[in-house]
Parts: sequence; structure tokens; C-alpha cells
Amino acid sequence: MRALTYHGAEDVRVETVADPIIQEADDIILRVTATAICGSDLHLYRGKIPQTEQGDIFGHEFMGIVEEVGSAVTQVKKGDRVIVPFVIACGECFFCQLNLTAACETTNSGRGAIINKKQIPSGAALFGYSHLYGGIPGGQAEYVRVPKANAGPFKVPGSLSDEKVLFLTDILPTAWQAVTNAKVSKGSTLAIYGAGPVGLLSAACAKMLGAEKIFMVDHNQYRLKYAAEAYGAIPVDFEAVDAAEYIIQHTDNYRGVDAVIDAIGFEAKGSVIETLLTNLKLEGSSGVVLRQCIAAVRRGGVVSVPGVYAGPIHGFLFGDAFDKGLTFKMGQTHVHHFLPQLLELIEDGKLAPEAIITHRMKLEDAAEGYRIFDNREQECRKVILTP
Ligand SMILES: NC(=O)c1ccc[n+]([C@@H]2O[C@H](COP(=O)([O-])OP(=O)(O)OC[C@H]3O[C@@H](n4cnc5c(N)ncnc54)[C@H](O)[C@@H]3O)[C@@H](O)[C@H]2O)c1
Ligand SMILES: [Zn+2]
Ligand SMILES: [Zn+2]
Repeated sequence: MRALTYHGAEDVRVETVADPIIQEADDIILRVTATAICGSDLHLYRGKIPQTEQGDIFGHEFMGIVEEVGSAVTQVKKGDRVIVPFVIACGECFFCQLNLTAACETTNSGRGAIINKKQIPSGAALFGYSHLYGGIPGGQAEYVRVPKANAGPFKVPGSLSDEKVLFLTDILPTAWQAVTNAKVSKGSTLAIYGAGPVGLLSAACAKMLGAEKIFMVDHNQYRLKYAAEAYGAIPVDFEAVDAAEYIIQHTDNYRGVDAVIDAIGFEAKGSVIETLLTNLKLEGSSGVVLRQCIAAVRRGGVVSVPGVYAGPIHGFLFGDAFDKGLTFKMGQTHVHHFLPQLLELIEDGKLAPEAIITHRMKLEDAAEGYRIFDNREQECRKVILTP
């Protein structure tokens, strides 16, 4: 089959690789009909995620038709049209029972520390996301093996197009988890750092929940413009102003906003020193946006972090966070938990996540898709690929 594979930083290629086969009785093989490139894939593409190996197949936002089922699969059958969460969860362990599927303790055995000769549980395996996250081949391919098929794939009603439901695999639940963690409700004030797909869909969810004022911070003018037009967000260019100061000045009594969402993560731009230190791997992550978040949020507010972080941050202002009495919520998304309610919101026409798509390309041209999305060329917001 054809698949998008990794060959080093900024070198991905569509190649012919072996077809996936059923390995466990509860596996299925899916024929992919649509797949997307995620901002998380850009961390891989830039060579920033450890244990990413030559030939690894990327892709964790995908959907398709069930082609083959293992002998223990009961929840789906050949021919079903399904969407697949990027988090691989068993549905049965301690964490899955708590609906914390990104913390599933059975699908990624390789990562936890060892105490008393026992490995402490690590979080769930992810599709196409390095050997740190399980080394499971991803779905930017013609076919993909889906483990835990009695817990993962969700059937979709035939009436909804692939484009409408594809983002239920990752970025829509991620945005939803971010705004619900941020306790956004009617009348809330919110600042979102990062106007990429996750930031934009966070704005869409916040608007639907009745947020009164949404600030959107970025430096890509076309993304800021879209956030203003589509979601009524107040655009803030972090290269033109100090974004946190601007936000504070535009809230009542200079209090700051009720909540802030960091939809950027460890590769945040804006601090030359921290970018250098993270490139040299002397620092785990740039703290530049977390400092902005702590500054922009009001006392007693929430900093909600869907953006991916890794390793220590020395410039994390814990004292300021303590002084303001802040709550921090973060982590990989518990997709399985949020997916059904979000599917309903799409069916009811309350959410239309496909609106952010700008590029529809063939899987064969995936390498070019990565280049365009990474360089923010052609006003790119989101690329979807069809095999
Ligand atoms: N928690 C999860 O489960 C989960 C799921 C999906 C994506 N993510 C993460 O969410 C983050 C965003 O993903 P995306 O697809 O929107 O990516 P993206 O790369 O398209 O968007 C990031 C945006 O942040 C902007 N930015 C960079 N530095 C900034 C700064 N200092 N201030 C303001 N804006 C800045 C960029 O210009 C860009 O528009 C990534 O870290 C991704 O890995 C996490
Ligand atoms: Zn993703
Ligand atoms: Zn589990």
C-alpha cells in the first residue's frame, strides 16, 4: 500500500510499504477514506519528538471503511464506516472506566518508570506518533491496522460527509476538552493563544457555549482574520503588542480573562533564548506562552493547555500562579468520552468543524501538504488527504 513515512526532519515521503495485517483478535483493518495533517504531526515532521524512526508511518486523524475484522471483534463489521480516536484505549482498565482514555494503562507498555521491578503505567498508545507512544503505524495511508476495535472505532451515520466528521478523531474533542477544562460558559471571557486548527475550533466551541469575549493571539494575519470573521474573536498580534497586556487592558477593571487556552505548546515562538535552548534540547519546552497565559488570566481563573509540552520548563512562573490562585488543566484528549456528544452537535448543525479546511489533497501529495501547512503558505489552516 501507499503511506506517508518519516525519513528525518522535514523529510517525509509517500512510499509503497507492506499492507497491515490483523495481529490481535480484536484488531480491524480499515481502508482509509480521509485523513488529516495535525499540528501534532508538525512536531514529528520537525524532528522534535524522540523515538521517531526512519520509515514510521504518521497520521492519527483518519476514518474509513472496515475491510477486515479479527475473530474477537463484535462492535463493528466489514463494510461499516467508522471514525477512529487518535488515542488507543482498551475501554476496560482503571483509567478507561473513569473515561480518562488518554491515560489507558494497557495499550502502551514501554514508557513508565520502573519501581520495585514493576513498571508504573504510562498513558495510552497513539496512532502514528513515535515509539514513545507505542510505535503503532498511523493512518496517513491507504490501509491501517486499528487495535482495540471493540473500544475505539465509532460508526458514523451515512448522511454525514467524511469532512464533517473527520475532526471528531482529534482536534474537535481536543478543542472541546480545552474549553470545558477552561469552564467556558455563557458570558465567559477567554483568551486563546494559537490560531491553528485547535485554537480555531476552541473558538468555535467557546462561541457555541456563549462566551462573551474571545481574544485570539497569533502572528499569522490570515489566521487572526479568519478567527475574527468566523467566530467574532478579537485578534491580537503578539509581534505587534504584548498580548497579555493588551488583553488585560481590554477586560473590566484590568482583571484579565476568566480563562486562557494555550493551543500552541512546546514550540511556541517569541523567546529567542528558549527557542535556542529547546532546539539544543537543553530545555524541554519554551515557557513563553505559559508566562503569557499566567499574566493574562484573572485571579482564580483557569489556564487550559491542549498544546503539547515535553520535559521541564525553567521559566515557569509558579509563584505568580500561586499568587493568583490559578487552576491548570492539560493533557492529551480523552477522545472516546467526548466523541458521541460532539457527533450529535454536528448532526444538529450546531458545530461545523469542516469550515476550517483550506486544502484538499491526494495522499500521494502528502509531503507537499506537510510543507505548506508547516510554512503557513497559501493561507493554510488545515489539510485533508484522500488516498
Ligand atoms: N492535547 C491533545 O490531545 C492535542 C490534540 C491535538 C493537537 N494538540 C496540540 O495542539 C497544538 C496546536 O495544534 P494546531 O493543529 O492548532 O497547530 P498549528 O501549529 O497549526 O497552530 C499553532 C499556532 O500557534 C501560533 N503560535 C506560535 N507561537 C505563538 C505565540 N508565542 N503566541 C501566539 N501564537 C503562537 C502559530 O503561529 C500557529 O498559528 C500543538 O501543540 C498540537 O500538538 C494537542
Ligand atoms: Zn492531532
Ligand atoms: Zn484502558
